[in-house]
Amino acid sequence: MPDFGAYQYEIYFDGLRGVVPRFPMAYEGWEAGAQAAMTPSVWSYVAGGAGDEHTQRANVAAFLRHALIPRMFVGAAQRDLSVSMFGLTLPSPLMMAPVGVLGLCCQDGHGDLAAARAAAQTGVPMIASTLSVDPMEQVAAEFGQTPGFYQLYTPTDRDLAASLVSRAEAAGFKGIVVTLDTWVTGWRPRDLSTSNFPQLRGHCLANYTSDPVFRAALAKTPEEDPGGAVLHWAGVFGNPLTWDDLPWLRSLSSLPLIVKGLCHPEDVRRARDGGVDGIYCSNHGGRQANGGLAALDALPEVVEAADGLPVIFDSGVRSGADVVKALALGASAVAVGRPYLYGLALGGLDGLVHVLRALLAETDLLMAVDGYPSLADLTPDALRGVAG
Ligand code: FNR
Repeated sequence: MPDFGAYQYEIYFDGLRGVVPRFPMAYEGWEAGAQAAMTPSVWSYVAGGAGDEHTQRANVAAFLRHALIPRMFVGAAQRDLSVSMFGLTLPSPLMMAPVGVLGLCCQDGHGDLAAARAAAQTGVPMIASTLSVDPMEQVAAEFGQTPGFYQLYTPTDRDLAASLVSRAEAAGFKGIVVTLDTWVTGWRPRDLSTSNFPQLRGHCLANYTSDPVFRAALAKTPEEDPGGAVLHWAGVFGNPLTWDDLPWLRSLSSLPLIVKGLCHPEDVRRARDGGVDGIYCSNHGGRQANGGLAALDALPEVVEAADGLPVIFDSGVRSGADVVKALALGASAVAVGRPYLYGLALGGLDGLVHVLRALLAETDLLMAVDGYPSLADLTPDALRGVAG
């Protein structure tokens, strides 16, 4: 069993040799450092959300309304954070949420590859976004022994969707995550005020421009006419799917199918009945719809409706304590978005690996101190409701 908490001894022992950590230890430092490292346009795209960003703040605040209660005489000297889902055994429940501008967040412009390498180093799976700087085959080639997942933004062109999914299967991805809440971009004042939309400037479209179906639909190649490729992309990007599309989505691959963006229990039940393999409870980190329920507040009902299907959770997770709370509310796995992105901006691969190791160490040490030695011990009884 990996000893995630031992990261703290590495840090303390380094200190004895006069070596102090290169990177901050907690979210506030990652965020501040990332802001300083990024260009203003990338920063506003990444840090911003929909409307006045109330939902984004609510996602974070929701964790403060749940408090962990410690248990004694447990002797949790070793913790087992492993989780089994989709036929895979993962060393921990932590995942990297799909993030479409990863490439741009890294100083060398190849953040997708850095995240894949971080997955290989830490065992934390990456869910690779459709919107990447490097094509999915090159991303998947960096995963090492860690399984990776491919996130599909379903285009209106069904043949293109099928091509993207079959490429993901061929590249060795272990599951397909279909994001349902982003067929149209939500109202994002920060980006609107600077007319900033990276994809329309041709960024992060490598999965499209490398795709044979996408290329066949163009009059000129993307290399000859980049603007034409962007226009075609804008025309096919977002598909407002309905339940009638689910059987088709299901038929695209025999890989596990996970649907992302579900917060209503009725949607979860229908998705389950439609044959999905996993539910991804998320409100896109508050980037898509403002005025919404904090994702954490939706989680218990989602878990109940999932009725045993694995539930991945994200939105607002900022610390190991948040990871533990989401697990106690029934998540099978917990993904982070902005925290790892900020690590990437701070220090490329090293910064990203540090953020993942810090989150894992805090999760593990909290389970040790609070006396919850395995994920099975983390039930709603580990939490008490408190005023936020
Ligand atoms: C995202 N997210 C996202 N989700 C997705 O399914 N595909 C994508 O390409 C992206 N792109 C993206 C870009 C940026 C800059 C951010 C911050 C987020 C949403 C992501 O997967 C996840 O749901 C949220 O990031 C989780 O919230 P936190 O952890 O950022 O609060």
